[in-house]
Amino acid sequence: MSLFRDKNILLGISASIAAYKSATLVREFIKHGANVKVIMTPESKQFVTPLTLSTLSKNKVLSTLVKEDDKDVWNNHVELGQWADFMVIAPATAKTISKMAQAECDNLLLTTYLSAPCPVYFAPAMDLDMLLHQSTQDNIDKLKSIGNIYIPVDDGELASGLVGKGRMAEPEDIVDFIQNHHIKKLPLFDKKVMITAGPTYEQIDPVRFIGNNSSGKMGYAIAKEMANQGAMVTLISGPSNQQLSHSNINIINVRNAKDMLTACINHYDSCDIAVMTAAVSDYTPVKYSEYKLKKKSLDLDLKLVPTKDILKHLGSIKTHQILVGFALETDNEVENAKIKLQSKNLDFIVLNSLKDKGAGFQVDTNKISIVNSENKITNFELKSKKEVAKDITQYLIHNFV
Ligand code: CTP
Repeated sequence: MSLFRDKNILLGISASIAAYKSATLVREFIKHGANVKVIMTPESKQFVTPLTLSTLSKNKVLSTLVKEDDKDVWNNHVELGQWADFMVIAPATAKTISKMAQAECDNLLLTTYLSAPCPVYFAPAMDLDMLLHQSTQDNIDKLKSIGNIYIPVDDGELASGLVGKGRMAEPEDIVDFIQNHHIKKLPLFDKKVMITAGPTYEQIDPVRFIGNNSSGKMGYAIAKEMANQGAMVTLISGPSNQQLSHSNINIINVRNAKDMLTACINHYDSCDIAVMTAAVSDYTPVKYSEYKLKKKSLDLDLKLVPTKDILKHLGSIKTHQILVGFALETDNEVENAKIKLQSKNLDFIVLNSLKDKGAGFQVDTNKISIVNSENKITNFELKSKKEVAKDITQYLIHNFV
């Protein structure tokens, strides 16, 4: 599986003879499953045509600050920057590098560069002496010092006929470089994570079931965040309306507690981290009726048996896994969470209290505290579940990875 699958890559092309290689670079990114948008400086169009690049990238190539077909509408560089998982400027000429270092923004590539919050890679292309010039070296150092990532130039024959350093790295090498640098350096790269989410439905007859209010939002948000941090995630989900598509996430849909347990056992041995957010039904009917129970025949005394506590079971057979549980409480919150933490052999537990406004089921926000196995409590503010997922992931990375 390609590490670029579903990644959004913004390719900035500036005016160098090496721009002809950008066509191959676009093709390489696309071949590896990425979505690519190309921004060209106006001068770079002399070296490679926008038509070639739009055909290969399957997206309109942008180069002007306002739309070419409607001069009253701007090309939104802020949106472009936010769309990107990373930006690659290849070839980066001495002039573009200089403008990047000086925060000059007189074209779309540079305005987008200045407003992009994502990692930025730049692959210089220029003649030997231009590269060696102290001003160019200072500019490159400046970009490195602010976190931009330099893709080393190649040695070889240059457009001037001179031989030496200054050739833009080959497209295949740029792809390898970014994969090695960006994706393999993510904190959860190579980690296998198993997450449960949503409710379970315990069927009484073909029509009725015992369920609960869990939406699955918290578990899905954690799955996405951990996948974005490089983990391979198995998301074992009870019935939920949440939609999620991510190259690093494999979703296994289950309905009841028994099937959730089986799926967890199947994946537990090979996982490094297990995060159990599901609101698993604690009871299930003793007997399932294959026929719809008629109102008059319904025994109002519905017989139930306890389901197996999946998390407790995983805690009892834990070997190398980091095991994380959730506790949704209404009273005596911290004490109850500590009891669950110990009795289920967890590394930490995420507590949310239904007493807190904005926390719990069917809402987009949550307010959590994390209790670790030394009973140390970390409190967090009320945040969106997406932000809470980030907090939990960062807590895990900082304390356990
Ligand atoms: N859990 C589980 N399997 C169950 C019940 C709970 O895996 N059959 C997990 C949940 O996913 C959660 C943690 O255990 O991570 C705590 O769940 P919670 O419902 O808060 O607690 P219970 O242990 O069920 O206790 P109680 O309902 O009495 O509070």
